[in-house]
Amino acid sequence: MMTSIRLEQTRSASRLARHAGKRIGLVPTMGALHEGHLSLVRAARDRCDLVAVSIFVNPTQFGPNDDFARYPRNLDRDCQLLEQEGVDLVFAPSVTEMYPPGAITFVTVEGMSEKLCGHSRPGHFRGVTTVVTKLFHIVEPDLAFFGQKDAAQVAIIGRLVRDLQMAVEIVVCPIVRDPDGLAMSSRNAYLHPRQRKRALLLFRALDRVQQVFAQGETHAGKLIEAGKQVIAEEPSVQLDYLEIVNPETLDTLEIVSSSALVAGAVVVGTTRLIDNIVLARSG
Ligand code: PAJ
Repeated sequence: MMTSIRLEQTRSASRLARHAGKRIGLVPTMGALHEGHLSLVRAARDRCDLVAVSIFVNPTQFGPNDDFARYPRNLDRDCQLLEQEGVDLVFAPSVTEMYPPGAITFVTVEGMSEKLCGHSRPGHFRGVTTVVTKLFHIVEPDLAFFGQKDAAQVAIIGRLVRDLQMAVEIVVCPIVRDPDGLAMSSRNAYLHPRQRKRALLLFRALDRVQQVFAQGETHAGKLIEAGKQVIAEEPSVQLDYLEIVNPETLDTLEIVSSSALVAGAVVVGTTRLIDNIVLARSG
């Protein structure tokens, strides 16, 4: 069975492949893999000669009250799935391997890191950009694959790569959804069947925003209001935020003229879920 390898082995395997002229793709994950993750792996397979997947539940992107301790971990199953997908290399480091004791160096995309999820999860994006920078240094991929599911993460990593002039191309893959529309997430495993139904409300709210926009409404405030009304139908679903922003800068928009990101987060029971859509004028 496929097993994960350690940091120095990962570095040298990737170096060897590069010297052999191979194009290297990296898919960073926190494991508990589902079809959303696998869609990134398949995209990497299509475009790269060597596909590396990292599995690391990164402590620095979790707050003190977040679910770090109970985040689902199943390395054997993940490795099996990745073997079936023809992945060449699985890197699943320990926390001390990724963060040498006493490590005090972080990478922050200032300003953007406080937006959307960054507002209610202080330090979250700092943890993401720090670990992604480390992974890029270890693997030195030509391409790295991320999901549109985490739209703010995509924007922030795009900015990180641009500002630090990193030699990696970021490839963004579409959101994979369950047949009823719920965006796939490792955290969906926390939901009881009744909560699973309620979790769909965020997608329905985004869908309503899309409909009202299609009818000609361009005021962000009015669009958000329409979405919030849907969430309010179910008092047990708590809205964290629903915002319309510029997809690249994450700055709030008042009027939707060209492309706009509608992003939201809700809490169902104790589970925090996110989703988003992009509004664009057709024709
Ligand atoms: P994780 O939540 O495991 O997600 C890993 C990658 O899979 C991310 O790029 C995410 O956007 C993508 N993904 C998750 N669900 C998806 C879905 N339904 N459709 C498409 N893509 C999906 O995001 C992280 O881990 C971490 O923050 C990480 C980048 C690994 C840094 O620790």
